[in-house]
Amino acid sequence: MKILVIGSGGREHALVWKLAQSKRVNKIFCVPGNAGIAGEPKTRCLTLDPAGDLDAIRQFALREKIDLVVVGPEVPLAGGIVDLFDGTGVKIIGPRRQAAQLESSKIFAKQFMSNQGIPTAEFFVCDSADQALDFVKRSSYDYPVVIKADGLAAGKGVVLAKDYSHAETTILEFMTEKVFGEAGSRIIVEECLRGRECSFMVFSDGEHYQPMVPSQDHKRVYDNDSGPNTGGMGAFSDDALLTAEMRTTILRSIVEPTLRGMSGEGTPFRGILYCGLMLTPQGPKTLEFNCRFGDPETQPVLMRMKTDLLDVFEALLENRLHQLSLEWSPDPAVCVVLASGGYPGKFDNGKPISGLAEVSRMKDVKVFHGGTRAATQANRVGRESPFQTAGGRVLGVTARGPDLPSAAARAYEACSKIDFQGMHYRRDIGVRQIARNAGPGEAP
Ligand code: AMP
Ligand code: GLY
Repeated sequence: MKILVIGSGGREHALVWKLAQSKRVNKIFCVPGNAGIAGEPKTRCLTLDPAGDLDAIRQFALREKIDLVVVGPEVPLAGGIVDLFDGTGVKIIGPRRQAAQLESSKIFAKQFMSNQGIPTAEFFVCDSADQALDFVKRSSYDYPVVIKADGLAAGKGVVLAKDYSHAETTILEFMTEKVFGEAGSRIIVEECLRGRECSFMVFSDGEHYQPMVPSQDHKRVYDNDSGPNTGGMGAFSDDALLTAEMRTTILRSIVEPTLRGMSGEGTPFRGILYCGLMLTPQGPKTLEFNCRFGDPETQPVLMRMKTDLLDVFEALLENRLHQLSLEWSPDPAVCVVLASGGYPGKFDNGKPISGLAEVSRMKDVKVFHGGTRAATQANRVGRESPFQTAGGRVLGVTARGPDLPSAAARAYEACSKIDFQGMHYRRDIGVRQIARNAGPGEAP
């Protein structure tokens, strides 16, 4: 089997790492990949010209006689890459453009949830800044109110406005200054939900599904959820995130009606459905859908997966996910993201990374690369390090252990051996929950 993985982050490294373990996989291409992905067995990274062009990807897949394409990020899915592969004979994992609207249009997702009776926050759709400002003034929602750009905004399109003036600034930025272009020309104003967040991903063939183990992301840059939002500073996966009852409620009240509703509307969802949930005192509610694997959740989740991922993808493509029984390690896993100095603001690239060779010998630890590049003779500083930083979220240090504290301790031990100039990371990934043991509905 020849596989093509699209994307360049820690999520794609985890996908390539897991697929490379399959005996039936002979060759993996990753477009564009990163320096860590290029070091996986059977794997080659390459940049196509022009970068990100969907037709260039399709032509490459045909030329190389790729059997299966796996899409990491949302942008190609929202751009219709799955539809583009129609009639080529090349199989591809992901929803079609219409179904990917569950992520690419927050208004589509909210209206869909409303129609299907899927629990979510109360909301109001606004087509103009005046309408939004007027709604915020007279709505009964407590502050913070949540302001969301309708379209894709690279994870930056959601703001929890702490008072009217913050809401006003945000609405004007989104709708008048158009900081996200057309993505912010329509917005949602939404009530703020309280509780503990949980990421719940399922494989779906459109008709049947198989859940993955639950996980939790950490979006804020500093400990105790302070500082600005980022692409994700770490995640952990632990079955204890959900009671059996909560898990059943999520399946019955969110996952199943979503998949049934999408099929009912003639746009079956085939691919990875990511449900971003808030576990509120009134039960789980949907914050957002993504139409792909989460980053960094995929790193700890795949570290717990025992089943061959290729078997799951094939079952998905053949509409027989219900015949499969997925096997997971009961051991929790923790992923700590090591970020560049300054991230999520401005940062420099090209810092040599040390310690990776020593960490590669640690048991039950895997370092997934995000923003890294290979040091060449031309740009190498000294001789010691084959890797350099090349992005904000540089590495995802991931470890598994018999319980959450052991997994976190192992991940942090590995982090302590790695260094690059300006490196920073959160010290509370997988730790806060142990210390606080916060139940659903309690403030995080
Ligand atoms: P994004 O992944 O950029 O769409 O941002 C979603 C994040 O915004 C979630 O992970 C939550 O932390 C936060 N969020 C979104 N909607 C709400 C809401 N209604 N109440 C509280 N937090 C929310
Ligand atoms: N971890 C959140 C996301 O992938 O969007």
